[in-house]
Parts: sequence; C-alpha cells; structure tokens
Amino acid sequence: MKEKLVRVLQTANSDIKEVYSLHDLLLLKSRYIGKKSELNGFMQKLGTLPKDERPAFGKAVNKVKEEISNLISLREKEIIESEYQKKLESESIDITMPGRKREIGSLHPISKVMQEIEDIFISMGFEIAEGPDIEDEFHNFDALNTPADHPARDLSDTFYIDDDVLLRTQTSTVQVRVMENHKPPIKIISPGSCYRNENDASHSPMFHQVEALVVDENITFADLQDMLNIFVKKMFGDKIESRIRPHFFPFTEPSAEIDIICVKCYGAGCNLCKGSGWLEMGGAGMVDPNVFDILGIDSEKYTGYAFGLGIDRIAMLKYRITDIRLLYENDIRFLKQFK
Ligand code: PHE
Repeated sequence: MKEKLVRVLQTANSDIKEVYSLHDLLLLKSRYIGKKSELNGFMQKLGTLPKDERPAFGKAVNKVKEEISNLISLREKEIIESEYQKKLESESIDITMPGRKREIGSLHPISKVMQEIEDIFISMGFEIAEGPDIEDEFHNFDALNTPADHPARDLSDTFYIDDDVLLRTQTSTVQVRVMENHKPPIKIISPGSCYRNENDASHSPMFHQVEALVVDENITFADLQDMLNIFVKKMFGDKIESRIRPHFFPFTEPSAEIDIICVKCYGAGCNLCKGSGWLEMGGAGMVDPNVFDILGIDSEKYTGYAFGLGIDRIAMLKYRITDIRLLYENDIRFLKQFK
C-alpha cells in the first residue's frame, strides 16, 4: 500500500507539471484528490487493514493528499502569473512607434486665393464690402444701367427664384449697395459668389468674382490701369503685365476687358493661352454717369472706376488647374494638395 501511495504522489507531481490551463488543473485536482480519486478509495479501504496499521496509513494518505493539494495550488499560481504576463505582452504599447497622425483640414484653394486678394487690396487702402447672394433685379440689373431687354436678364443666363428675386450674376451688385449708402470717396472691393446658368470645363454655375470700386474727384482711366497692374504683379509676380481691350458693359463707359500676360509662357504663346500670349481676367471700366444718377451721386463732380475679376480663374492659373469643376467636386485627394 505504501508503494502505491508513493506512486500516486509521483504521477500526480509529473501530471501537474504538464498542465498549462486552470481548466485542466481543475480536472487533475478532482482526479487526484476528489471524491472518486484513488486516494479517497484508499481511505474507504482503511477498514480492511489490521487495526494497528490504520492510524499510520490514514496519516500517510492525508499527507500525500496535502502534498498534492500544495502542488496544485503552487501550479495554479504559476498558471495565473503566466497568463497575466501573456496578457500584458499582448496589450503592451510600443512607445517607440510613431503616433497616429490626426488629419487636419485645410483652406479651399478658392478661400486661399480670396484671402490673398483681400490682403493685397487692404494693403492699398481698400475696404471689404459685402452683399447678399440672393438679389433683386434693381441691384443686379436696373441700377447697373442694364435695360429690361438685355440678354443677360434672360432665364437661360440668370437663375430666377421668383419674378424679382434672383441669384446675383455678378458682384457688381455690391457697388450698387455701397453707392446707395455711402457718399464718395469710395474705395472698396467685394469678393463673393455669383451664379449663372452655364456649366463646362471653364464655367461653373456657381463661381467667384472680386469687384473693385473707386469713386472720388478726378479718378481717371489711368488710375484703373495702374491699379490693375499693381494687383497682377502682386498676385502673379513682377513679370506679369495687364492690358485692356475695348468692350461693352452697360454700367461702365468706356468699358474694357482685362487680359494679363500668360503666366505659363510669359507671352511667347503656349497651350494655356492658346498661342496668344494673353489670358482673360475680367471686365472693367469707368462708372457710367447713368449709374451715379440712379444712385444719387453727383456725376458732374465725381468719376470712378470699377473692375471685376474671376477668382476661380485666378486660382486655376495660380495652381495650374485645368478644369474648374475640380474646385467644386470636394474630392479629398484634390483638396489635400493645398495644405
Ligand atoms: N460684372 C462684370 C461681369 O461679370 C465685370 C465688370 C465689373 C465689368 C466691373 C466692369 C466693371 O462680367
């Protein structure tokens, strides 16, 4: 019997060492010291032994039981500790790894160019004026000396919301609003959105203009040309000149279209300027005295110039964007390039 006890202890010892989970350990525990264990069997057979051998054998069985139970709790601690270590390793943080970058948005190229334009004009003493995108015919057409039968008023060019309510087709509405409320001297620019019913690679139904208006005594066409030249040089660099060509606008007289030397070939002729060496930039002219009269400004005393430049066009030239629609598709891959 004694040998049997020693053997049970030995196999229990080696079995316990080979167990790696608490679950398996629990199974071993019931196998070796549980109710149906061999050791318990020995205890039940105690009665079959001669009387004088019983106490010693009972003691020996209990001792083995105790030892096995100690081995099991030792192993239990080891398993818990090693599982804890494993967990720590799997959850550990590698502090040498670079952190995850948070993507920060950036200004839209139109906003960037608008701010740049504002800065240039503010540095030359202009103030920023604003007007609503939703306008009436008076501010968009009538006060700008645009007769009722002018083609620009046509539904196919202008987005009408109601009979007398429309989306402004030009920022020239703001010169009307400024002259309604201020007496000369006036020196403002007004950047903002405009809307026209057109849509192709170089025209978007929503686009941006910056209007400039300068009204005072003795303002001349030379002042206009001077200001345009200063602006294009500040915007595009010293090599760039502007020129004007005769044109017609109902609210300026004389009127002109503004070109600048091609920013790609500097006048030599290339695909951007279609060989002409010049790029169209917007319209300009001397404020028509009729406009002053409508708005109650003394047209005998004051003269003024106005011009309107395409902001989208400026952004496209600056960043070499060939299709205006890219500006309004909100493709992150495109926008990311302007960080
Ligand atoms: N508003 C005109 C346009 O949209 C441009 C312009 C502005 C012309 C100011 C003359 C003076 O075409």
